[in-house]
Amino acid sequence: PAGDAQVGESIFKTKCAYCHTLDKHAAHKQGPNLNGLFGRQAGTAVGYSYSAANKDIDVVWGENTLYDYLLNPKQYIPGTKKMFHGLKKPQDRADVIVYLRQSTA
Ligand code: HEM
Repeated sequence: PAGDAQVGESIFKTKCAYCHTLDKHAAHKQGPNLNGLFGRQAGTAVGYSYSAANKDIDVVWGENTLYDYLLNPKQYIPGTKKMFHGLKKPQDRADVIVYLRQSTA
């Protein structure tokens, strides 16, 4: 489905922001800073201490990889330390992905 960035922003704030920031200059939280995520190899946010599982997976983050990952992070990256069940609704994933793309340039 096509995503709505404004809806994605509110999903990010309620479901992701506890553990992630998109602010380029902000410190990592429980999860890595997601600024500049699109086009980046998984596990490479500078200065963040990843699990081996997240560090070693051979994935570049983009629309399709995020769509699959966010459905169920623990299934996509077995052994990840991330404690998040995922976004089950396709529309929720599409919305948050458009928001991530537009706010991580
Ligand atoms: C990792 C996105 C919710 C904690 C990641 C990564 C992405 C991501 C793309 C991989 C980053 C990379 O490889 O550089 C999101 C989005 C969320 C969300 C879009 C909301 C829909 C959460 C929540 C938590 C969390 C709620 C904490 C309870 C983490 C942690 C990692 C991670 C700890 C690193 C995992 C590891 O090293 O194994 N997240 N996340 N995330 N996230 Fe999230």
